[in-house]
Amino acid sequence: MSTRPFLRVEALTKLFVPRQTLLGRLAGRQGRGVLALDDVSFSIPKGRTYALVGESGSGKSTAALLVAGLIQRDRGKIEIDGIDLAEADPATRRALRRRVQMVFQDPFTSLNPRWRVGAIISEPLQALGLLSDRQAIAARVADLLSRVGLDSADAARFPHEFSGGQRQRIAIARMLAAEAELVICDEPTSALDVSVQAQILNLMRDLQEELGLTYLFISHNLAVVRFMADDIGVLKAGRLVEAGTAEAIFGDPQHSYTLALLAAVPEASVEAAVAARQARSGSGASSMHSRPGLIAGQVANEF
Ligand SMILES: Nc1ncnc2c1ncn2[C@@H]1O[C@H](COP(=O)(O)OP(=O)(O)OP(=O)(O)O)[C@@H](O)[C@H]1O
Ligand SMILES: [Mg+2]
Repeated sequence: MSTRPFLRVEALTKLFVPRQTLLGRLAGRQGRGVLALDDVSFSIPKGRTYALVGESGSGKSTAALLVAGLIQRDRGKIEIDGIDLAEADPATRRALRRRVQMVFQDPFTSLNPRWRVGAIISEPLQALGLLSDRQAIAARVADLLSRVGLDSADAARFPHEFSGGQRQRIAIARMLAAEAELVICDEPTSALDVSVQAQILNLMRDLQEELGLTYLFISHNLAVVRFMADDIGVLKAGRLVEAGTAEAIFGDPQHSYTLALLAAVPEASVEAAVAARQARSGSGASSMHSRPGLIAGQVANEF
């Protein structure tokens, strides 16, 4: 596995400045603003998973949105596959952006409710000019649906006709259609039942192994993070207070804040996540179909 960073973030800083109200302006008051991200640096080698953890409001989603290009940074650098986004020409930037996709907590808000699933998944194929022939598009949609564990007939249905877990599978199929290489996952399974959550996490890891995907993974559930992450950064009030391999962060945390975060997680759930992770790597390449419930069986009650 390559160790060249696919994503490199350096001294990333974001200040949210509140809009001034009329009353505030008349009173001569300045809004104070929130330094949501303060001088944060990390990198993710291609094919690996970096998790950002931290309490609510620590800046995790802000980091995700900055890397996805959905909000603008105030300072710092974002490099994707060795190219500095700020210095790239517009065509290169667009091409890089395509290689970065997001998977959100609630797929319902990211899937157009009036579109059939086939249209939702094929939209990036057409918009990005990846395929134009109708038959080829239909075949690719069917292939993607099957890859995420759905049926090709599901292309004709609407998002509301699916369960939450199935909707997240549709969002993942759409991300695959765009041929994403870096996937930013902001609480991708937090809205799901534990057993469904395990299936989606296994699917994400299968896809990572198969396609060499790089993940920036955000979850408040540290057992989930232990199962998914190679490396972890701990955010507190916008600053990275500790970073290291998952083994180091869980095994030998240094910062009192990290200790406090870990103290809030049942030990059994972390142990189960470690066991599930080891079981996966012990058995080599896996497929969702041959090993459907790996964590579901082992960890469902703990996650
Ligand atoms: N658009 C915005 N305008 C103003 N302040 C914002 C905006 N987005 C986020 N913030 C503030 O920035 C800080 C970091 O928010 P962020 O959403 O990144 O936290 P988070 O770690 O994702 O939290 P959670 O775990 O609750 O999702 C918070 O204080 C938040 O109120
Ligand atoms: Mg958030």
